[in-house]
Amino acid sequence: MPSKILVTGGLGYIGSHTSVELIQQGFEIIIVDDLSNSSTEVLEGIKKITGISPEFIKLDLKNKNEVNQLFDNHPDLTGIIHFAAYKAVGESVNQPLEYYENNIGSLVYLLQAIERKGKKFSFIFSSSCTVYGQADQLPITEQAPIKKAESPYGNTKQIGEDILYDVTRSNALLKVISLRYFNPIGGHPSIEIGELPKGKPQNLVPFITQTAAGIHQKLNVFGDDYPTADGTCVRDYIHVVDLAKAHVVGLKRMLTDEQSENFEVFNLGTGKGNSVLEVIQTFEKVSGVPLNYEIVDRRSGDIVAAYADTSKANKVLGWQAKNDLEVSLKTAWEWEKKVRNI
Ligand code: NAD
Ligand code: WQD
Repeated sequence: MPSKILVTGGLGYIGSHTSVELIQQGFEIIIVDDLSNSSTEVLEGIKKITGISPEFIKLDLKNKNEVNQLFDNHPDLTGIIHFAAYKAVGESVNQPLEYYENNIGSLVYLLQAIERKGKKFSFIFSSSCTVYGQADQLPITEQAPIKKAESPYGNTKQIGEDILYDVTRSNALLKVISLRYFNPIGGHPSIEIGELPKGKPQNLVPFITQTAAGIHQKLNVFGDDYPTADGTCVRDYIHVVDLAKAHVVGLKRMLTDEQSENFEVFNLGTGKGNSVLEVIQTFEKVSGVPLNYEIVDRRSGDIVAAYADTSKANKVLGWQAKNDLEVSLKTAWEWEKKVRNI
């Protein structure tokens, strides 16, 4: 397919895995990233897996002029996968303006640059299951009501989707797919790329692998008195490569004019919920490493349970997650061991 695709945040966790899938499917890509949460070493990993060094431009999408210049310099762009954003939920509560400036400002500048070009454009947006909050019904379908966001970060995803919907109504040349990820985990089976959180991880799986690697003395399990089978919270953990593949399918759907509407939303998950204790037990099984953990108080803002109804993505995109929790945790552990020289 002779399409040149812009991947914003393409050196980050999900962006790097998606860049690999795009290259392997024959797309020519340009990665832009400001390196605020990644490093250029990721390019080496992408090259080792694919044999191709994608074009990389260090660029901060908050700079409107540079965004316009990027599109002027690359008139052959036909699509964009927009990963670039800040994503730390707790940090967003303390620094809401940084989050609105980056996550909303960058999106608006990209859309303005696209509109200036006055041609057909396909756009994939990284959204999140966080838009559902605690859904009233499980599994969660795309029709579930959007609840008031628990954090400025979550709000940037809701606002981002609203902006994109509005722009598809005013600009018939723009096609959008918003992908609502559940909990992405794991790394590439080649162990050349993976999740590289800066600072102390807030998410469960990197905290588990770092604890097993001896970086932290123990894992705190936030609450075991929730109304779930074992009292710990339930989430839908999806392997990052499965997630990455869905982006390629979505992009092809838009590029080949298969969309039924110019703005579409899909849940991306496995459809299966696992509790925190199940994740710990599965990790211990696949790694052979006993994990030091302690039950502590609930973490504020946590929802009880969330897992996806993936039937829309299964039917419409012909996509489904292939890797189970064991594979996901195994690749997360292999990556952690490589990073720590274990
Ligand atoms: P990440 O932080 O690893 O990747 C984001 C990348 O964007 C980083 O490389 C960062 O340097 C870059 N970036 C940030 N602001 C930028 C800017 N102004 N200009 C250029 N580059 C910029 O995060 P990720 O986990 O790969 O997440 C990718 C996307 O998916 C984000 O939009 C995130 O909100 C969304 N998402 C992530 C999760 C998750 O749990 N990881 C879940 C749901 C949605
Ligand atoms: C999972 C479970 C914790 C850490 C977050 C964002 C959400 C989305 C995905 C971007 C919960 C428990 C965790 C720890 C623990 N990201 N936990 N000890 O909360 O589902 O979602 O990432 O859009 O917006 O909020 O993921 O990995 O933080 O937590 O017990 O040290 O693990 O309480 O039940 P979460 P998580």
